[in-house]
Amino acid sequence: MIDHATIERILDTAQIVEVVSDFVSLKKRGTNYVACCPFHHEKTPSFSVSPSKGIFKCFGCGKAGSAVTFVMEHEQMSYVEALKYLGNKYGIEVKEKEESQEEAQQRLLHESLLIVNDFAKEFYAKRLWESEDGQAIGLSYFRERGFSDETIRKFGLGYSPDERRAFTHQAQKKGYKKEHLVAVGLTIEREESGELFDRFYDRVMFPWRSISGKVIAFGGRTLRSDKNIAKYINSPESEAFVKNKSLYGIYEAKGAIVREQKCYLVEGYTDVISFHQAGIENVVASGGTSLTSGQIGLIKRFSNKITVLYDGDYAGIKASLRGIDMLLAEGMEVKVALFPDGEDPDSFAKKHTADEVCEFLNLHEEDFIAFKYRILSSDIEKDPLQRARLIGEIVNSIAVIPDAIVRNVYVEETSSRLNIGQELLQQEINKVRNKRQEEEFKANQRRERLQQLDAMQQTDAASGYGSNGTGGYNAGTGGYNAGNRAVLPGFIVNTYCEEAEKEILYYLIKFGHFPIHIEEEFLYGAPDSGQQSVAQYIFSQLGNDDLELQNLVYKNIFDEYFNLKVADGEKIFKHFINHPDSAVAKTVIDLMAQPYTITIAQFNKSLIPEQNILGRVVPKAILIYKAKVMAQASLNLAEELKKAQAEGNDRLQEELIQQLNTLMQVRNAFAKELKRITF
Ligand code: CTP
Ligand code: MN
Repeated sequence: MIDHATIERILDTAQIVEVVSDFVSLKKRGTNYVACCPFHHEKTPSFSVSPSKGIFKCFGCGKAGSAVTFVMEHEQMSYVEALKYLGNKYGIEVKEKEESQEEAQQRLLHESLLIVNDFAKEFYAKRLWESEDGQAIGLSYFRERGFSDETIRKFGLGYSPDERRAFTHQAQKKGYKKEHLVAVGLTIEREESGELFDRFYDRVMFPWRSISGKVIAFGGRTLRSDKNIAKYINSPESEAFVKNKSLYGIYEAKGAIVREQKCYLVEGYTDVISFHQAGIENVVASGGTSLTSGQIGLIKRFSNKITVLYDGDYAGIKASLRGIDMLLAEGMEVKVALFPDGEDPDSFAKKHTADEVCEFLNLHEEDFIAFKYRILSSDIEKDPLQRARLIGEIVNSIAVIPDAIVRNVYVEETSSRLNIGQELLQQEINKVRNKRQEEEFKANQRRERLQQLDAMQQTDAASGYGSNGTGGYNAGTGGYNAGNRAVLPGFIVNTYCEEAEKEILYYLIKFGHFPIHIEEEFLYGAPDSGQQSVAQYIFSQLGNDDLELQNLVYKNIFDEYFNLKVADGEKIFKHFINHPDSAVAKTVIDLMAQPYTITIAQFNKSLIPEQNILGRVVPKAILIYKAKVMAQASLNLAEELKKAQAEGNDRLQEELIQQLNTLMQVRNAFAKELKRITF
């Protein structure tokens, strides 16, 4: 645990823009900054960072938070880890309090795989540089390949000796746990005997780093030419390594990708390393497989221009064309460069100076669609059928491009190249797009239907009539955990109350410390106490009636709010947006970050500054909330009544009818009251 004062200091010092910029390339727009969201795939930026509020918010996927939350989410760190990271970044010494055993275990579990990998990296590197076999076999291999010592160190290359247990032995001797060694895939446990072996032996080692520089996996290349031995083996997927979200070289490349606003994509480890050595650092490798959208997203954080580098293998190129369509569909600007026969990026970079490599790339870089056409058209003579197929291929590629203007440019170019009218081409593209849109539309429609159904049931619930499915839920008891919109098996949870709860929460968080003067209409004869705050008023209103919020996250925020010892609105806001419970932080940020659109406030806000009408809107929000609670309660009663009827329990029925009558009266009174109060 980190002591409170240190946390405060870190939170005060951490600048959201600086923190986010380490991972995402932000563009200034007005007072805020925008980028394509690092948490979901998107083609136009809806991720926004507000330096003044100290928060980020994605209007696409809804992710939002503070500098701390950002680091937590982005780097998959715990709260404490994120604070430590920020402390480190800003040179704040993080003194830790004694950790509880549970906390220590939790943290250890989270970090241990990365720590084991880090140890392994050191182990393999040490073996490479300091042991006889490492130098004779591994180091001399790298040097023969033309890697300088500096390059070898930069990429943390290593050597795993020709012994079956060298690493595992050493790791266990140093106290690393078997479970962690196995979980991260460095050690293999024989099922029958329980014996432990190294996954990597007799290989040169390439560590993979995450975007923030942590070692997440290894690739090991054999130096033997035996065809029965796999040339490369790689770490398996683990907590630490999700292959389709990782790219080899991204950590070493990210700075250069931002600077150059372009990323080269190659196949292998050695291509990346040779390029670096030639002075071209904006390069990553997919590791021999075709790109996934997770990997594309990784590049897109830094630039949307990508150049795919091919060696001359024709069959290989043809096979990979489809994968490149995906880059287009993600809104990337895709170019291709083809190396001369028999050369790959690695060998080419070795034979030429850095300037020559750059010149070659600039000269041979070709737009992807033009390239695709060139590659495919070499196949066909004048066969009309094949020609039609080629056109179809090109049309498919153009159709996936999200931007209409870009599509148009391609239509013009392709039209002259293929000697087909632009209109015809456009028609074909539209056909493909329409078909796709139709599919999307249908899927959307299905989703909407479901939502409508959901809403209908909620309205029923709120009005107290017809009660399919909602009745089983008992307002206030909150039998389910935390989720804002949990759907329990068998019935739909009524979220109608939640909207009203949310509205009250909004006033509490935003205006809790403001003074409030209740307007005449809401006083019901009692005098306005004259000097209460919004928070006090809400507390007295909800406290008196013994109401409990239905949404457990909201309830937690309420309870915590009233237990806070601070009275400064700014501080309270900061407390919540940096809350260790991410659901709490997110809820509060969402409330504050979005243009506020719930019911009453909507209209008035455009006319009068919000704080001037607190004496009106807050009581009204509470009134609405109470009416909803009543509606819900009567619904529950009606449900119970139905059950009692079915069971033939007359006494219970009578009792319930009595209760229901009372409740209905109260409810009607509320409804009338709400009607009376006009805005
Ligand atoms: N690869 C792999 N497993 C294999 C073969 C290849 O994971 N059995 C991946 C590696 O990431 C490798 C890339 O595919 O870097 C490209 O393969 P290849 O061209 O065969 O390897 P190079 O990196 O070019 O290695 P070298 O130059 O030493 O032959
Ligand atoms: Mn190679």
